[in-house]
Amino acid sequence: MLVWNDTLYAYLEHSNEDQQVVQFISSLVLPIVEQMNSEIRWLEIGPGPGTKTCGIAKALAQSKKIDSYSIRLIEPDPVWNESLYHKYPFLLNKGWLFRMSFENYARQESERQDHWQPNFVTCFHVLYEHNLIEEFLLYFKRQEQIGHRLIACIIVESERSDFFQLRQKLQQFGQKQPIPAVVELRNSISKLDLQAREFEINNQYCRIPDNEENIGWLLAFLLGCERETLKNVPEEIRMEASKIINCFLAEKRSRALEVPDVAFTFTIG
Ligand SMILES: C[S@@+](CC[C@H](N)C(=O)[O-])C[C@H]1O[C@@H](n2cnc3c(N)ncnc32)[C@H](O)[C@@H]1O
Repeated sequence: MLVWNDTLYAYLEHSNEDQQVVQFISSLVLPIVEQMNSEIRWLEIGPGPGTKTCGIAKALAQSKKIDSYSIRLIEPDPVWNESLYHKYPFLLNKGWLFRMSFENYARQESERQDHWQPNFVTCFHVLYEHNLIEEFLLYFKRQEQIGHRLIACIIVESERSDFFQLRQKLQQFGQKQPIPAVVELRNSISKLDLQAREFEINNQYCRIPDNEENIGWLLAFLLGCERETLKNVPEEIRMEASKIINCFLAEKRSRALEVPDVAFTFTIG
């Protein structure tokens, strides 16, 4: 499971990802959702810090075409759960926080008595593991077979992202590459014969200010770990890796990394 809370916060502070994703959903996905339903039942998988969730919830609340919405958040990480509970009580007033993995939620769905079925599903930067991708897409397939109607959006890092290139440069330090999720997703979508549209979310950047000497958080982000865990990496490797990152940044205008995402949207049923 991908859990590196402090590193993710640091990244989001330096990037416009939240803003661009919320903008993409509000302008391209919500209009389709609104057309299909006036009562939205929204399933958000892996909200993490909840910054994107909060932005989309505000857009839903402002929509004149929607009568009501309820939300289910599925988040297995206890630290994020506590933070969501304290920071966004208005989200929880709209529904439930399930403190479990998506796999467990999906397994228990048929046993639940409430018969709540989502008609809007979002999953941003969660599907970076092979089994989870399969499990998630099979869930859609089941929904399609049962005849449920829903709109869904999955977002993952694009293979054109500078992070992709940087991780490749760091491979020499024995860094295990995360799977190129976008490629796996495309393959699995086609294998399962699911109808999806693919978009690149442009103008996403992550800017590291000139005066930022300690780029430890960026190294931790690229390695997919907590900053604390970086201490276990030998100092000479950390120094060498930071040098590589700094050289890469020096070649970028305003030290801004281009970090586009790819969004897959699905209309099921
Ligand atoms: C990289 S964070 C992304 C958080 C947020 N969606 C965003 O885009 O800012 C990944 C999130 O997925 C959650 N996650 C990881 N494995 C999961 C699983 N099997 N089911 C549901 N959520 C999961 C993590 O706890 C974390 O909150």
